[in-house]
Amino acid sequence: MMNNAPVRSEFLPFSRPTISDREIDEVVDSLRSGWITTGPKVARFEEALSDWAGGAEAITVNSATAGLHLALECLDLRPGDEIITTPITWPSTVNNIVHAGAVPVFADVEKDTLQIDAEQVSRKITSRTRAIIPVHFAGAPADLDPLEALCKNHDIHLIEDAAHAAGASYKGRLVGSGSEAAVFSFHPIKNITTGEGGVILTRNVEWAKRMRRLRFHGISRDAWKRYAQGGIPQYEVEEPGYKYNMLDIQAAIGIHQLARLDRFNRIRRELAENYNRLLEGLPEIIPLSPPAWPHEHAWHLYIVRLDIDSLQVNRDTFIAALQAENIGVGLHFPAVHTQKFYRDKYGFDLGMLPAAEWNSDRLFSLPLYPLLTHSDQADVVAALEKLLVRFRQK
Ligand SMILES: Cc1ncc(COP(=O)(O)O)c(C=O)c1O
Repeated sequence: MMNNAPVRSEFLPFSRPTISDREIDEVVDSLRSGWITTGPKVARFEEALSDWAGGAEAITVNSATAGLHLALECLDLRPGDEIITTPITWPSTVNNIVHAGAVPVFADVEKDTLQIDAEQVSRKITSRTRAIIPVHFAGAPADLDPLEALCKNHDIHLIEDAAHAAGASYKGRLVGSGSEAAVFSFHPIKNITTGEGGVILTRNVEWAKRMRRLRFHGISRDAWKRYAQGGIPQYEVEEPGYKYNMLDIQAAIGIHQLARLDRFNRIRRELAENYNRLLEGLPEIIPLSPPAWPHEHAWHLYIVRLDIDSLQVNRDTFIAALQAENIGVGLHFPAVHTQKFYRDKYGFDLGMLPAAEWNSDRLFSLPLYPLLTHSDQADVVAALEKLLVRFRQK
């Protein structure tokens, strides 16, 4: 008789933040202190982030999306300027290019790492190119050396989307520690969280000054202090800015998350290695390959591709079936150029980025976070195996 019971009786979330009493007590301390918005804890968190990043300027914001926007604002883009990026990213990487008034130009990815391909980037550079935005995808660093060389040769900027890459390193360099601008996300599924939030790390002191101003309405003085003792209530708008500041309540969480980043990432690595072993017997589930360049992986995501050519199922039906087995699933990411707005506005079409498109139809992400257990992973793999038996071509 067929057993139709799901592999797990309880749903396994795709992601869960690791929150300890330290974060909780620190938030409570902020709540009791009477100061809950941007204040002393944001200053403390920024100091800790800067120390961690070897002295880079650290500008906290209320999301990585906001951080990318501020980095692009520093380029003073003009209509028609072009920014080259990857199609395999969260839409905000690309939406921000549109918000900044520039034209997004896509360079294809490496098929098995999903990192932007520097050779493809070089073919997309024109006299209008102003910057390249690589994404350090899934927690592995992009190949920075050739991208930096392109930027130097063409006098353009490198804005790193490091949303996935807290703690990753490239050839021994911590991602973000020496960057012109690298933007990290502290969304709850990321390697460390502040609820929502992000940080821009930059070595450009002028940009840092401008980003600090732009994140709070364009007011240059330490605006958060204006209600504090000794603060100055008057202010001056130097350029129209945004409302992108991080709260002390968020920084309270971040301070204690950052202190445990290395430990979290060690656990993530061990879990990823366990998936690698468990998936060896499932040929239709194809993990990403590690990049060829020397690196330290932050293991933000564990992404696989479904070999739909040898199965009687498409990816969307397969992941719906996986969810019916009570396994949470992620989708990182359908190629941005295939999304309605980008097709309609720029006439992007299928066939222009073959490696991205091949992956876009096949990829999905398995649960990966420090609270995940080996037993949870065994359930994930048992569910995958069960579905492969169902969908293998007879
Ligand atoms: C590659 C990438 N860039 C940017 C972002 C935006 O981050 P946030 O949600 O903090 O705005 C994300 C979020 O998932 C992302 O995955």
